[in-house]
Parts: sequence; C-alpha cells; structure tokens
Amino acid sequence: MSLPPNFLDELRVRTPLSSLIGRKTRLTKSGRNWKGCCPFHGEKTPSFYVYDDHYHCFGCGAHGDAIAFVMQSEGSSFPEAVERLAGEAGLEVPKPSREQSAREARAKDLHAVMVAAAETFRRRLRQPEGRPALDYLRRRGLTEETIEKFGLGWAGQGRGTLMADLKGTGITEEQLLEVGLLREPRGPGEPASDLFFNRVMFPIKDRRGRIIAFGGRILGDGQPKYVNSPETPLFSKRRNLYALDLAREAAFKGQPVVAVEGYMDVIALHQAGFGGALAPLGTALTEEQLAELWRLTPEPILCFDGDDAGGRAASRAAEVALKALSPEHRLAFATLPKGEDPDTLVKKSGAAAFEAVLNAKRPIEAVLYDMAVAAHPGDGPADRAALKKRLMELAGAVEDKGMSAELRGWLLDRFFASRRRPDNGFGPKFGGGFGGGFKGGPGGGFGAAGGRDKFGFRPVASPQPRPHIVADATRLEQARCLMAILIAHPWLLQEVEEAFGTLDLPSGHVSQLRTTIFAWLSMAERLDSEALVAHLQASGAGDALAWVLRGPGLPAASRADAQPSEALDGWWHFFGFLRGEEGLRADIAEAVRELAESNDPAAQQRLMGLKMAHNAWLRGEVETTGPLE
Ligand code: UTP
Ligand code: MN
Repeated sequence: MSLPPNFLDELRVRTPLSSLIGRKTRLTKSGRNWKGCCPFHGEKTPSFYVYDDHYHCFGCGAHGDAIAFVMQSEGSSFPEAVERLAGEAGLEVPKPSREQSAREARAKDLHAVMVAAAETFRRRLRQPEGRPALDYLRRRGLTEETIEKFGLGWAGQGRGTLMADLKGTGITEEQLLEVGLLREPRGPGEPASDLFFNRVMFPIKDRRGRIIAFGGRILGDGQPKYVNSPETPLFSKRRNLYALDLAREAAFKGQPVVAVEGYMDVIALHQAGFGGALAPLGTALTEEQLAELWRLTPEPILCFDGDDAGGRAASRAAEVALKALSPEHRLAFATLPKGEDPDTLVKKSGAAAFEAVLNAKRPIEAVLYDMAVAAHPGDGPADRAALKKRLMELAGAVEDKGMSAELRGWLLDRFFASRRRPDNGFGPKFGGGFGGGFKGGPGGGFGAAGGRDKFGFRPVASPQPRPHIVADATRLEQARCLMAILIAHPWLLQEVEEAFGTLDLPSGHVSQLRTTIFAWLSMAERLDSEALVAHLQASGAGDALAWVLRGPGLPAASRADAQPSEALDGWWHFFGFLRGEEGLRADIAEAVRELAESNDPAAQQRLMGLKMAHNAWLRGEVETTGPLE
C-alpha cells in the first residue's frame, strides 16, 4: 500500500496518542508526558510511557506510533489500522493501492518501450536512408559526440516502420499507442499510424534520464517544424524540460542553469560547454518547470530573444515566477542580441559571446520594474500613480512575506529615485548642495533648473565645492527629528508616504530607516509605533533607531502623547526644512495642479501639508524639547 507520506503525517498529527492509548490502559500525567501500565505485558508498576508522537515500554520494549499501537493492540494490518485511525480523525484514505502499483509497473514497461524505440531511431540514422538526416545534423555543426550524447535518430518512412522494427521484442501496438508513438486508427479496420516519420528524432528525458517522449524535426524547411509526443502516462509537457537530466548534473558541478527556447539551442550550448542549458518543450515556461529549475539552483537564468516577442515572453515568465519568489528562489534574465538564438550566436561568435550574454543578466526585480514602466509610461501624476500602484501589486503578489516587503522597498526606491534623478542633463547651475541652514532657509541648495527637474537633485559631478559641514550636520539633525516623529506616529505614513518617499535624505542611518519603514509598511497590519519599533529592531535597524532616539533635541511632536494634529504639523515642519523653499514651491505648484485635475481628497491633504511645511519654513523655527544643535 503506497500512501502519500504527508497523508500519514497528517494522520499522526490528528491522532492524540494519549487518548488513543488511554482507552486501553489508565494513563497518568508524568511531567510533559503520560505513563501507565503496559497494555502489552502484564505489569503492576507502570513502565509504559506515552510521548507526543510515540510510546515506549521500558518493561517489554513495545514501541511505536499511533498506527503501530492499533496494529499491535488489535492485531490489525497496516491498511486496516490506517483506515480505522483515519475514520476516527475524519480523514479520507487516498485510494491508490492496487491501481497505483499497477500503474507503476506499467510505466516501467513503457519506459522500456521508449528505450527500444529510441534505439531503432538511432540505428536508422546510421543506415543509408538516414544519411540526409545525418548530413543535416553535421551541417548544423553537431559533432559525432553530440549526436550520440543526445541520442539523436531518424524516424524512417512511416507506414508501420516502427512496429515492424520492434517485431519480436514483445512490445505491443497497444503500448506504442499508449506512449504516443502510434496514432489511433482513424476507423475500424484501419491500421494505427506512425506519429513520427521522415523526421530527425530528439529523445526527451525526465530528470532521472528516462526517455519519456520525442520531438521530431523536419529536414530543412517545412511545417510543422517540430512534432512532439502528446501527453501520455509518461510525459507531461508542462512538468518536464529538455535536457533536465544533463543540466541537473552540471548544476551539481556548479555550472549556471540556463533555460533557452529550443532543442537545437540546448544542444548547441552543451556542445559549447554550457552543460546547464535546458529548455521547455515548445511552450512558455510553466510554474511547474520553474519549480523544477529551483530544485537545481537558487538562481536559474532565463534566456530570451532580443526582439519584442522575447520581451513579452520574459514579462510572462517574470509574472509566473513572482508568486514563488523567496530568498532561496531567485531568478535572473539574460537577453540575446536581436535576431540571434543561442545556437546561431555560439556558431557565429563562439562561446564567449554567450558567456557575455549571461554576464549581462539582470535580476527579476529590475525586469519587473521595467515591465511596469513600459506599461505605465509618462510623467504626469496619474501616470506616476498608476505606475506606483502597479509596482505595489507586483510586490504584493509575492507570497513570501519578507521577500514581498523587500521587493516593495526596492521597487519604490527605484520609483522615487526616478523622480529625483532626472536624466535630461539639466543640473542645478548654482548652489552645489542640499544644505539649507536650519534657520536661514535653503542656501541655494535646491535648484529647480527647469524641465522635469522640479524636485532638485544631488549634482553628481558638480564643479562646486561640497556644502558646508555645518549645513550637513543641520540637515542630519532635521532628518533625525523627521524620523523620530514618524516612528512615534507611524499612522502619519498614510498621509505623508509620497512626500516621505520622494524626499532627498542623507545616506546612512536615515536612509536605512526609510527603506526599512517602507518594507514594514507593506506588511504591517496596524500602523502602530510599538510594532514599527519591533520591526526596526528585528531588521537590523536597531542602531539607526537608537541614533534617532538618543539625547535631547527632539521636537514635542515626537512624543508619544502628542496630539495627532501636532504630530502632523511637526512632521511637515521638518519636511519643509529638508525639502528647501525651492522644492516646496515646486511641490505646492504641482499639488495645486493635481488638485485642480483630480479634485482628490488625497491631493487636498497633500497640499495642506505642503503649505504647513512652507509656513514653517518661512517662520524658520520649530518648538523642540531642547536645543537643536
Ligand atoms: P525554434 O523554432 O526556435 O526551434 O522553436 P529551434 O530549436 O531553434 O530549432 P531550429 O534551430 O530551427 O532547428 C523553439 C522550440 O519550440 C518548439 C520546439 O521545442 C523548439 O525547439 N517548437 C517549435 C515546436 O514544438 N513545434 C514547432 O513547430 C516549432
Ligand atoms: Mn534555432
């Protein structure tokens, strides 16, 4: 009786041993466990112990789990014991037994049928009739060794060739029908016909190297180019990959696992030294195939054509993979030069060219980001909002919580950075910093030099000297206050998320905190301070947190008992200082525009906040619990 192992586990979990055994002998609590007189041998003093998952008698040595107990105490067989316990636990015993073992035995026979068929195909390739096929393979650059390694063959002319070849082996027509090598007769009295004829034959093997199907290529041009075995008891197209058995071996030796599109691509790559190459079987990569890749390596590489179709295929694969991403399940994407497949590339430019393609691989998050941007181009608020929503959706689709949160943080960082760092080449022509003295207003730091440069940015190669150290220190202190308020009142994020995300912040503790806070935001059930603090500590941001909370200088708004309006007010104050006046003016102009366009309450709120920030900036002071510097 072969039962799925997880069924038995489930059964054991659902059967409390103490109550099962308690029916046969009186048990008393002994520490965490139970003890009593052994039901299997007469005894007066208890030496029979019952633990969570097994029992043991120190007197007679009786030992086992719930199933063993029923068998031992009632003399029942294993299936009977399982049946009985399942009944009591309210579980249904899966009904495999005879059917399944018969199926297993038959599959073994069917594999032998496939081996015999592959053998005849290989033989035919070496006969005079196979000559054109052999020449074709050689013309395509395959070496003798490769042809052998992949077991390539020639199907013959059809019209009963295969059955005739297999005569005397004991293999029946019924079996050939079952493995899909023959097609059902069209009508009564008609013969079954060969599925493959006049084709170069590619045996397809499972992960253990057993032949489960064939692909057959026409010589030269013609349609269909490939014929593949149908779904059979041996072959499931969506679960298998071409050359999986070989790639598995290569993966164990540390070679990269690379999924490409076609049979010939796989073969050419293996010949060029890429033993980890494999391919799906004429369809887009499925969830099951991805799972198979992850059994070989934590980061398989998917290789796609450089054209639009390749791009679409990559997007589809990224979306299929999304759900299952985790620290152990990563994915990278490599893109071929336009117009090449791996086969043509290595033939033309050698293994190094493909190596270069692999070296230029990109992680899935970068692909996801670009996908989202391609779907939501444009720079207006509505486009940006749609893009952001899409990014959150993508990250939200990842089931692993930690991964989902990190992905969200990563995508949002990119999103915000895309706004802060315009690529139009207009840098600020003055200032050279983002200082903005605390009381003195922005020292010309936020240059709005036109175009989409309204948010000001860090000049990358500015000829100007670095801003004053003092200005940097002030800025850092302002950022500390901003963080302190947010950490005490995380609900603020609902209102300030966008502003917070786009703000140019000092690197180090502050940036680390922001990223960690965004990660938390995506999974937090309630926006409460205690939970946030716990998350910061658990995520390695404990030092940064301590830095924020240390010493005096924090504003009243950061106290836990501050009124919500005070907290909000205070947050926008510090935002204003950090943003600088130029930036604020630009933000306000945009918020006004947005409000006029959308009439959205969120835009209204944003505008109010920005105005608060601006007023605070104009006043130039903020109440604090102590001196700021
Ligand atoms: P390609 O046309 O890229 O095949 O199709 P290829 O492997 O590069 O073949 P060559 O270089 O022309 O000889 C990619 C894969 O799609 C499936 C096959 O698995 C093929 O390897 N396919 C293609 C089919 O199943 N049927 C077809 O008619 C065509
Ligand atoms: Mn090709």
